[in-house]
Amino acid sequence: MRAAVCREYGTPQAVRVDDIPAPPLAPAHVRVRVHAAAVNFPDVLIVANRYQISVPVPFVPGSEFAGVVVEVDDAVTDLAVGARVFGSCLYGAFAEEVVVPAASLSLVPDGIDDRHAAVFGVAHRTAYNVLRSVAALMPGEELIVLGAGGGVGLAAVQVGAALGASVTAVASTPEKLAVAAANGAQHLVDHRTRPLRDALRELLPAGGDVVVDPVGGDLSEPALRSLRWGGRFVTVGYASGVIPRIPLNLVLLKGVHVLGFQLIDFLTHRPAELERNERELLQLLAEGRAVPHIGATFGLDDVADALQWVADGRAIGKVALDVAPPFAPG
Ligand SMILES: NC(=O)c1ccc[n+]([C@@H]2O[C@H](COP(=O)([O-])OP(=O)(O)OC[C@H]3O[C@@H](n4cnc5c(N)ncnc54)[C@H](OP(=O)(O)O)[C@@H]3O)[C@@H](O)[C@H]2O)c1
Repeated sequence: MRAAVCREYGTPQAVRVDDIPAPPLAPAHVRVRVHAAAVNFPDVLIVANRYQISVPVPFVPGSEFAGVVVEVDDAVTDLAVGARVFGSCLYGAFAEEVVVPAASLSLVPDGIDDRHAAVFGVAHRTAYNVLRSVAALMPGEELIVLGAGGGVGLAAVQVGAALGASVTAVASTPEKLAVAAANGAQHLVDHRTRPLRDALRELLPAGGDVVVDPVGGDLSEPALRSLRWGGRFVTVGYASGVIPRIPLNLVLLKGVHVLGFQLIDFLTHRPAELERNERELLQLLAEGRAVPHIGATFGLDDVADALQWVADGRAIGKVALDVAPPFAPG
């Protein structure tokens, strides 16, 4: 099969397309013919060997995909050949075939094409679980989203608006902010043109209720300072490459709740809530209220450029990779 292969850790240019043997089927697993994949920030980190989990080289990167089931292990009873599915894995998705546990797959809702299904899982599930369960966002609350033009951020803007919040989007370019506005943000802040704290004080004089932070770095502290007393700050990721250090006296003085989220923890510790959230989120997708924005699409041969695009912070919403036809519509 054709696949993107990382033979040594490094920059995205270390990833090349090659012909390699397809992975063997495993117990309780299915083989999916991948039509489209998503390119995510952690893929860049895994290729650089800077992710929290190290994947031994050589390996096929890629952590989100959509396609059709082409082979099923005997132990699998709830998925058949021909089913349209989407799923995620740590690596292996930038290939014509991927073998994954049947239990890790979801059926693609009617009317959703392969590209949109491929890019849906990680960002939207993260945003939905963060807002619905971790932050317990309520209608009418003021939500501040950092990195609002990125995958998780833009999903948080969409989902926050769908849950009835008033959303303030923070991003680095007018282009990213325009997409955030089109996806439900009411207030827009370009943090490159003025200090974030000043802009948020002006827009939200009573303070925000919730901050979602997938970026870290210099933006986290002014965003936390912009919460009202008792507000919630959810740390989701560090796309800036810098894990911020927040003075603890701010937490004391403002009575804020600093919360963290990792999808994998919900699988282990809050499975019933995860299941409820999944049902609600798929309903929003089917209703067209949580459809991911694809800002750029690359072919498999251009996988290194796609990874570089994401590494450079140029992605608006999600980046799709067309692996094998048909990509869209499904
Ligand atoms: N906790 C979880 O379960 C979970 C799940 C999914 C993702 N994540 C993490 O969340 C973070 C964001 O993921 P994402 O998919 O939203 O990424 P993304 O689409 O690449 O967006 C990241 C945003 O961060 C900002 N940024 C600031 N400095 C950057 C830099 N040096 N390089 C790249 N981006 C930079 C950019 O916004 P501006 O240009 O507007 O500043 C960019 O839009 C990642 O660290 C990822 O690992 C965590």
